[in-house]
Amino acid sequence: MAEMTDVFFVDGMRTPFGRAGEKGMYWNTRADDLVVKAIIGLMERNGDVPKDRIDDVAIAATSQTGDQGLTLGRTAAILAGLPMTVPGFAVERMCAGAMTSVTTMGASIGVGMYDLALAGGVEHMGRHPIGGNVDPNPRFVAEKLVDPGALNMGVTAERIHDRFPHLTKERADRFGAASQHKVQAAYEAGKIQPDLVSIAVKDAEGAWGLATEDEGRRPETTVEGLATLKTPFRPHGRVTAGTSSPLTDGATISLLAGRDAVKEFGLAPKMRMVSFAFAGVEPEIMGIGPIPSTEKALKKAGLTIDDIGLFELNEAFAIQVISLLDHFGIADDDPRVNPWGGAIAIGHPLAASGVRLMIQLAAQFAERPDVRYGLTAMCVGLGQGGSVIWENPFFDGKKKRK
Ligand SMILES: CC(C)(COP(=O)(O)OP(=O)(O)OC[C@H]1O[C@@H](n2cnc3c(N)ncnc32)[C@H](O)[C@@H]1OP(=O)(O)O)[C@@H](O)C(=O)NCCC(=O)NCCS
Repeated sequence: MAEMTDVFFVDGMRTPFGRAGEKGMYWNTRADDLVVKAIIGLMERNGDVPKDRIDDVAIAATSQTGDQGLTLGRTAAILAGLPMTVPGFAVERMCAGAMTSVTTMGASIGVGMYDLALAGGVEHMGRHPIGGNVDPNPRFVAEKLVDPGALNMGVTAERIHDRFPHLTKERADRFGAASQHKVQAAYEAGKIQPDLVSIAVKDAEGAWGLATEDEGRRPETTVEGLATLKTPFRPHGRVTAGTSSPLTDGATISLLAGRDAVKEFGLAPKMRMVSFAFAGVEPEIMGIGPIPSTEKALKKAGLTIDDIGLFELNEAFAIQVISLLDHFGIADDDPRVNPWGGAIAIGHPLAASGVRLMIQLAAQFAERPDVRYGLTAMCVGLGQGGSVIWENPFFDGKKKRK
């Protein structure tokens, strides 16, 4: 009989994230090639892991057509040179796709069915615009199951402002600017680059180049400048391009392992999975989704919010992160929250982002032995939230900082 076992995040890597659209660096790059390159990079960095021992490959994409279709986990595994004996499948939970890849593979390891698994996601929002090529059932609107605005994520963000008037545009602007500055500081300190797989890219003239850094960053951002931006989701609204995650192309991948595999292959895991949860909320204000999913995950772990020493929260919109912080009584600028910035500056290639949060948390764990637990959490379209709590293997038992 297989037994329940510990689940470890051994390692994770990602492509640099590109600006979606014709001017973006990945316009001439296939979506599946992004995740294939990420897998190759991760397997090269973990050369001691026998490829034929990988039990499964789960790859998420929100839009599963064209170069993001065709059972991505399986096709990406073949294209990345994994043995034909390694199976794979595709995952879809909108923005929490890669997070769901990790929790699904983690659960398979946890119940003792798998030893090693790859989990990640990809979204080429340039080639696959958000909401493109879908045909929502007319009952959603005809039967007033959800408001039409619930399908536009920016409109749902405006609604959080409506519901919580004390969460002002000024606070969101400050948060958006801080994200840009924190990412830039992290880049300057060399924190982000080690987990990036460089990607060969072709420009419009057919010349080759190399993508080595996230493309969408705007380090020159000022709070004053953000105050002047248009509000694309509502006339005289409060959400702007400066407080939204930009449309982005990118891919992420992680290697997960059970306790026995860690021993057998002499692996040095970066995080241990403690608990996870998903939760549903009203689709009209989907951005508050990570509040109930975090409460569920904390409860399952027997922890409270005060036990969390580092937060990696996906910044789909500044206002939805602020709503979570406000709920838990955490300041907008708390140093435990997204210390190296977030999706507003780095980008949010929907189904890839969950593992980007984990990669960043893992890198911070390594330099913060005073922190025992960290949270990765994100909101999900159509009213959901996803949260995973992780334990730091480098925790030294001494709580030096809060
Ligand atoms: C918000 C959004 C509509 C903006 O799209 P866009 O207009 O193509 O974005 P741009 O990058 O061109 O920015 C718009 C303007 O704001 C400016 N801007 C953006 N960020 C800025 C910043 N940090 N500082 C200063 N100016 C900024 C741009 O320069 C541009 O100015 P211009 O109109 O004078 O050229 C788009 O990014 C979006 O839809 N984001 C949400 C994606 C989403 O829903 N994801 C899922 C989440 S659940």
